[in-house]
Amino acid sequence: MSVSVSNLKVAILGFGTVGSSVARILCDLKPQGIELTHIYNRNVARKRAEWVPSPVHWTEDFETILASDVNVVLELVGGLDPAGTWVRRALEAGKSVVTANKKLIAFHGIELEKLARSKGAHLLYGAAVAGGIPVIPGLQQGLAGDQVTRIEGILNGTCNFILSKMEEGAEFADVLREAQGHGYAEADPTEDVDGYDARAKLVILSRLALRADIDPEQISCRSIREVSAIDFEYARELGCTIRQIARAELRGGDVLASVGPMLVSKASPLAWSRGTENTVLVGGRYGGDVVFSGHGAGGHPTAVAVVSDVIGIAHGSRAVDLPSRKTAIGGEFLLRHSIRFVVSDQPGIIAEIALALAEQGINIHAIFQKPGYGKSNLPFVVTVEPCAVSTLQRALARIGKMTCLLEKQFDLQILEPEEDRISH
Ligand SMILES: NC(=O)c1ccc[n+]([C@@H]2O[C@H](COP(=O)([O-])OP(=O)(O)OC[C@H]3O[C@@H](n4cnc5c(N)ncnc54)[C@H](OP(=O)(O)O)[C@@H]3O)[C@@H](O)[C@H]2O)c1
Repeated sequence: MSVSVSNLKVAILGFGTVGSSVARILCDLKPQGIELTHIYNRNVARKRAEWVPSPVHWTEDFETILASDVNVVLELVGGLDPAGTWVRRALEAGKSVVTANKKLIAFHGIELEKLARSKGAHLLYGAAVAGGIPVIPGLQQGLAGDQVTRIEGILNGTCNFILSKMEEGAEFADVLREAQGHGYAEADPTEDVDGYDARAKLVILSRLALRADIDPEQISCRSIREVSAIDFEYARELGCTIRQIARAELRGGDVLASVGPMLVSKASPLAWSRGTENTVLVGGRYGGDVVFSGHGAGGHPTAVAVVSDVIGIAHGSRAVDLPSRKTAIGGEFLLRHSIRFVVSDQPGIIAEIALALAEQGINIHAIFQKPGYGKSNLPFVVTVEPCAVSTLQRALARIGKMTCLLEKQFDLQILEPEEDRISH
C-alpha cells in the first residue's frame, strides 16, 4: 500500500544561514512530492548559488511569490516585521507557511494559527524551538497521549556555550568574546544572555505542552551576565553546575514560569549539555520524564526541522489544539537558593545575614567557605531552604546595606531532582 503524498511547490523567503541549508537539503534529497520553485531575498543577485537547479526562480519581489502557484512558503528571514506581514499575506492567500521564527510565533502564533485554519492552510514551526531537535513534533505527536505538567530546558545555545566554558574556569567577558568570534553570539548579545530568546521559546513550548498561552513579558527573565567563575567553584561543592534554564510548570490551577541561570545537579541531563547543545526535559503525568537533546541551532540542523515540516504538510499533517485564552502566571517557584557574598571579614557577619533571612521566614541550609582567600576579600556561600525569589529579595535588600560587602551579593536558584522537590 502506498501513502498518498501531495505535490507541493515551495518558496524560500530569506537565503541566509537556514534558508540556504534548506535549499541544499531540498536539492540534494529531493523529497517525494516537494519541488523548490522560488527563492526570495533582498538584493538577490549576490545570493545566487550555482548548485540550485536553473528552473528555480530567484526574486526580490515578494508579490511574485504571492501571485505564483507556490503552496508552501518557508519564512526564514526572522524578526517580527516584515516577516510577520509576509506570513500573514501568504496565509491569507491560502498558502501554507513553515517558519523557524520563534519571536513571531511567541508573540503572534495563536493569531496566525487561527488565520491558517480559517484558510485551510498549515502553519508549522518545528524549527522555532531547539533547532534540529524534534521537541515540537515530539510534543504534538509522540507525547500527545500524556498530560505534560512541566518543561525544563536549555533553549539557548549561546548561553550554554558561555556557561559550559565558564565551568572550565573562564570568565564571562572572555567567553562572550570567543562566542562572538565563532559566530555563536551576536555583536549585541542581549537577546541571548539576558534570556529573551529562551523566553520566546518557552512561551511556544508552554502553549503546546501545558496548553497555557502566556504573555512573554509576564515571564521573569534573569541575565547570565552576573555569573562569575567563582560561582562554578561553589557549584562544584554542591555537586552542581550552572546553566541557563527556561522552565514552566502547572501547579494546581496555576502556571509558574521563569528564565535565568540556575544551579543544576550534575546528575541531571540538563547539566550534560555542552557547547551550543540544547536539552529539553518534559515531565508527563503518566509517562514520566522524557529528554530531548542535540544541536539546537546551526544552518543544517535547523534546516532539517524545516524540511521535516514541509514533508509533514505533504503527508497531510494535522494541526493540534491550542489554548483558547491567555493564561496569567500565578505564583512563584519555591526552591532552595545559593547566595554568594564577598566581604571584608569581621565578627558578626553571619549573625546579621541569618537575622535578615529569619525576618523573612527563611531558614539557612548550609554555609560554604573555600580556603585560600584573604580576610580582606573573602567569598563565601550561604544556601537557604526553599523560598520564593520575592521573599529572598526582601531579605537581600536589607543584607545589601551591610558595609562589609565588597560587591553585590549574587543568588542562584537550585534546580533539584523532581523527587527531592516534592518533599519540600
Ligand atoms: N541560524 C540558526 O541557527 C537558527 C536556529 C533556529 C532558528 N533560526 C531562525 O531562522 C530564521 C533565519 O535565521 P538565519 O540564521 O538563517 O538568519 P540569516 O542568516 O540572517 O538569514 C536571513 C536572510 O533573510 C534575508 N533578509 C533579512 N531581512 C530581509 C528583508 N527585509 N527583505 C528580504 N530579505 C531579508 C537576509 O538577507 P541579507 O543577506 O541581505 O541580510 C538573509 O539572507 C530566524 O527566524 C532565526 O531565528 C535560526
